[in-house]
Amino acid sequence: MSDETYMKMALECAQKGCGWVNPNPMVGAVVVKDGRVIGMGYHQRYGELHAERNALAACTESPQNATMYVTLEPCCHYGKTPPCTEAILKSGVRRVVVGTVDPNPLVAGKGIQVLRQHGIEVTEGVLREACDALNVVFFHFIQTRMPYVLMKYAMTMDGKIATRSGQSKWITGETSRRHVQEDRHRYSGIMVGIGTILADDPLLTCRLPDGRNPVRIVCDSRLRTPLSARVVQTVGKAATILATCLQDEALARPYRDAGCDVLTLPSKDGHVDLRKLMTALGKKEIDSVLLEGGSVLNWSALQSGVVNKVQAYVAPKLFGGADAKSPVGGIGVEDPKKAFRLAPPQVTRLGEDILLESEVLTCSQES
Ligand SMILES: NC(=O)c1ccc[n+]([C@@H]2O[C@H](COP(=O)([O-])OP(=O)(O)OC[C@H]3O[C@@H](n4cnc5c(N)ncnc54)[C@H](OP(=O)(O)O)[C@@H]3O)[C@@H](O)[C@H]2O)c1
Repeated sequence: MSDETYMKMALECAQKGCGWVNPNPMVGAVVVKDGRVIGMGYHQRYGELHAERNALAACTESPQNATMYVTLEPCCHYGKTPPCTEAILKSGVRRVVVGTVDPNPLVAGKGIQVLRQHGIEVTEGVLREACDALNVVFFHFIQTRMPYVLMKYAMTMDGKIATRSGQSKWITGETSRRHVQEDRHRYSGIMVGIGTILADDPLLTCRLPDGRNPVRIVCDSRLRTPLSARVVQTVGKAATILATCLQDEALARPYRDAGCDVLTLPSKDGHVDLRKLMTALGKKEIDSVLLEGGSVLNWSALQSGVVNKVQAYVAPKLFGGADAKSPVGGIGVEDPKKAFRLAPPQVTRLGEDILLESEVLTCSQES
């Protein structure tokens, strides 16, 4: 079998860590000897052993002279676990096939260098594109220390995210809603504006049976979140951060007593400064945020330049209504030339709905 075939197996293995390893990357490894797979492993949970060590531990025979396929360059530094390069050198593996280089400044080619210096044959870049795509979030976070932000909304075919009375349950069908739950498992944080809390009182948890709840973040400049809101009442089940501009301990106290984290940030145009918020979330090791609206916050997030990707779930329905909200509100651009530009979308059919996904090419409209 070819290098590509074994790397594909390593990629499939890596996916099993999805949602559990953040802010670390998903990594998979396969050990092959005389054309037989003798061990496979992946990074299972944040803080636990890396894929290479798990694959070596799983070997059914000595890895002496074997080839290891690993989706990401092995680490060569002491983090929560000792360097993987050490384990590889000790194992007797003769050749290492690496999917892509780790952009972490502590690694960035040095892992490969260490292996080569010790006489190991290293082949780089096998299925590089797929290996890069697997860890878009990690690559962004390790280089910027800001979370990767995915702006997600569900809309009708006439571009409405709610009816004229503000109701939005449900726009899309079950298949789309299940897809959203998978992203809630995958993302470390989920963020909404206070408008959405007041209109919908959402729970914002992950409903998958074995899912992981993202940290809930409410942009609430003036602490208007009701203490009875579900994001406050269920804080024992999933963490909640209230991002505010108020420096008022008396107002913050009841939320803190309820178990919420109240994060005071500078204001920008009278609201929470979203760039500062992203920096603060990054410091809390939140590597990714699913931005679930609403309309006012979405505009502000785009303008602040914090959005990396847009996901539009489009349902075959029409709401109509000049006052019914569209996904991105705010003041909007005046000149079509000033549009936020997105990459050509990936299109997926989800039951009756379609999902359009695009990377943001030019984000900030701020001067
Ligand atoms: N279909 C969907 O996908 C979907 C998703 C979400 C919501 N919705 C619908 O959208 C509606 C709610 O949307 P909305 O536009 O009224 O409210 P929103 O965007 O959820 O919240 C807006 C509020 O967030 C606060 N905020 C804090 N920091 C901000 C910042 N930097 N920039 C902008 N705002 C900031 C502002 O109040 P303060 O500054 O006073 O805090 C602002 O008024 C509801 O009808 C809901 O059902 C639909």
